[in-house]
Amino acid sequence: MKLAILGGSFNPVHVGHLYLADTVLAAYDYDRVILVPTYQSPFKLCAEGASPAERMDMLVASIAGDSRLVIDDCELRRKGISYTADTIADIVRRYRPTGKPALVLGDDLAQDFHKWRRADDIVKSADIIIAQRHLSTDMPFPYPYTQLHNEVINISSAEVRERIHNNGNWRYLVPHGARVIIEDRGLYRFPLRAFEDSPSLALLVRVEEAARSLTSQSRFTHSRAVALLCSDLCRRFGLDPRKGYLAGISHDMCKSLPEQALIAMAKRDGNGISKLEQKKPSLLHARAAAVLLVERFGALPVAFPEDVLEAVRLHIGGGMGMGGLAKILFIADKIEVTREEINPALRDLSETGSLDQLFTAVLDNNVAYLRSCQVDISEGTLRLLDAMHKRDSF
Ligand SMILES: [Fe+2]
Ligand SMILES: [Fe+2]
Repeated sequence: MKLAILGGSFNPVHVGHLYLADTVLAAYDYDRVILVPTYQSPFKLCAEGASPAERMDMLVASIAGDSRLVIDDCELRRKGISYTADTIADIVRRYRPTGKPALVLGDDLAQDFHKWRRADDIVKSADIIIAQRHLSTDMPFPYPYTQLHNEVINISSAEVRERIHNNGNWRYLVPHGARVIIEDRGLYRFPLRAFEDSPSLALLVRVEEAARSLTSQSRFTHSRAVALLCSDLCRRFGLDPRKGYLAGISHDMCKSLPEQALIAMAKRDGNGISKLEQKKPSLLHARAAAVLLVERFGALPVAFPEDVLEAVRLHIGGGMGMGGLAKILFIADKIEVTREEINPALRDLSETGSLDQLFTAVLDNNVAYLRSCQVDISEGTLRLLDAMHKRDSF
């Protein structure tokens, strides 16, 4: 197997690093690129730096599924100063590549390469590939090398760190996996979430992937619109927008499952199946989704948020004593932007009314619609409507 080695601090890894690795693989006949993060003493980290473990985590999350890339942590394990000559010898000993490995250097590093410790040994044990980073043309390099004619992606880890710190536009300069870690752990002084028990971005991503894989594209489009409106309404009413998004994106994730599966899943919440649910098992997609969320995502270090489960469970017909998030999901499900025939007054109210005013109006509207279609309505929903009207009249 032919190997190329690409070292760097990866603090954090950005798309320029991985694009360069991909370019080397496409330009020559190497089978794999080994990414070697350099050690930086934790005592010397600048205030916004990430630890070796965090840099590793970001790299690992960034290359998921790509078997052409390898991450080797030999320099992190060695700690202190590592010399490239030692790293190459170590990699050759362990990986046993076919022929010499390549060492990929940016032209910024190549300028001072002759000053590196045992530079002669390096060029004997590796083929040097010089990649353009600064579009320089007359770079002196007193050893044999191959010039890679790569496109220059003009970003650096320092620039990314700066943008994170200044709340700038950095999110799509790093691979998605790295972005999730930066946001969830507050790396590089990214501000941590305002709500203490807020679900992590990693959880949102996992749940969204599950919802997307379980539902049709049109159902997912609806779910995403519900998620966005839920998150907006949460912001308006002082609740956690991330929980709103999570409730919205997951509420219909079981909608496409067969009736038998819905019945089997819903039963696992221990609440039995009502007559109306027996008659119309599709109503169980809400309870089934709450069961699925607990079973699939509830064993994480942090329990799945109870208020999100309640919202998902009650999103079809509501329930007595339901919390604010459950009301918001109920509302958003009925009036989100892709629904065509919504009374504009309801959308107006979503910008001006109180949560209970809005909820009662949407519930009223929904019950009237179901009655016009001569659809059975659960007693719980009717009791709730009655209670909301009585509350209104005080
Ligand atoms: Fe639904
Ligand atoms: Fe829905």
